[in-house]
Amino acid sequence: MTSSADHPLQTVLLPDGASLAVEIHGEGPPLLLLHGFPLDHSMWVGQLPLARSYQLIMPDQRGFGANSCPAGSQGPASIEQLADDAAALLEGLGVQGPVAVCGLSMGGYVAQHLAVRHPRLVGSLILVDTKLEADTPEARAGRGELAAKVSRLGQEVVARAMIPNLLAAASEDAAHQPPLQAQRRDQCVLELTRMIHACPVATITAALAALGARPDMSQAMRGVACPVLLVVGALDTITPPACLERAAGIFPHARLRIVPDCGHMTPLEAPEIFNAEVEDFLRGVAVDRAAAGVLEGDRLAGAPAVAGRVVAGQPGHPAGQAGHSDPGANPAAGER
Ligand code: MLT
Repeated sequence: MTSSADHPLQTVLLPDGASLAVEIHGEGPPLLLLHGFPLDHSMWVGQLPLARSYQLIMPDQRGFGANSCPAGSQGPASIEQLADDAAALLEGLGVQGPVAVCGLSMGGYVAQHLAVRHPRLVGSLILVDTKLEADTPEARAGRGELAAKVSRLGQEVVARAMIPNLLAAASEDAAHQPPLQAQRRDQCVLELTRMIHACPVATITAALAALGARPDMSQAMRGVACPVLLVVGALDTITPPACLERAAGIFPHARLRIVPDCGHMTPLEAPEIFNAEVEDFLRGVAVDRAAAGVLEGDRLAGAPAVAGRVVAGQPGHPAGQAGHSDPGANPAAGER
């Protein structure tokens, strides 16, 4: 398996002239992976083993990751725009028909809008450490304050405010921390720090405004009929299990998994458990679909996938190896 660090990124042109960098692994049925804020596609490094069974499509969303180079440095205007970008990406890659879409936190908001705005493209949804509700006025104000601070002081403010809340707290008693868990946590901190520091201030401030303006999706999601997997870390304080429990009551066909000892970054904190849940869910979706005679989304026949829309390959940027409601816990949103 090629590590994310060595894998070439492709670039796909969007209808408005912006471009999206995307990393693609594997050749099975497509699985679109949408990263959280203010991260990039390399947060999915722990999911690379899934490329044995699926074609992983891992974009850097508008303004994030490799799109932060001067030619494509626009930040996101709205979550709806990011969903339209994801639809254009799938179409640009020549993916036909419904695919599995997985999004973490901000990526989960994008996945929800993708399912509502482009239902033809979404065969199943995996919503991870995310929520359906909009920000409270306090949360929105908190994002405004954070944006002002970041504009003055840079990304370090976000890294310092967010990282301790993104991961499950380390055990206070180091002797009782399983060694793998402690090591993995340190690695996660390094990865998150690298991604946040690489995210341009303009992207962070634009994304904070877009996150604060996103609508409540609870009503709209009642109309989403595809199979849904909801995954959340038991210790997630940003979007606690209660958020996903509420979501589970809304979807007609939802499976909810609460992963022990994880915070807001379940796929990074417990990749083996997360991947097993995803594989089990997608296997079930495929069996049901075959029984119903529904076609799978077309596989991409290797990369680059579609002549004309895929405009360039470029070297991957570095990537390493891979409840209870707490209203003040999301420094990206302030009080909720
Ligand atoms: C994320 O992890 O993507 C953000 O915390 C989402 C948010 O701030 O609502």
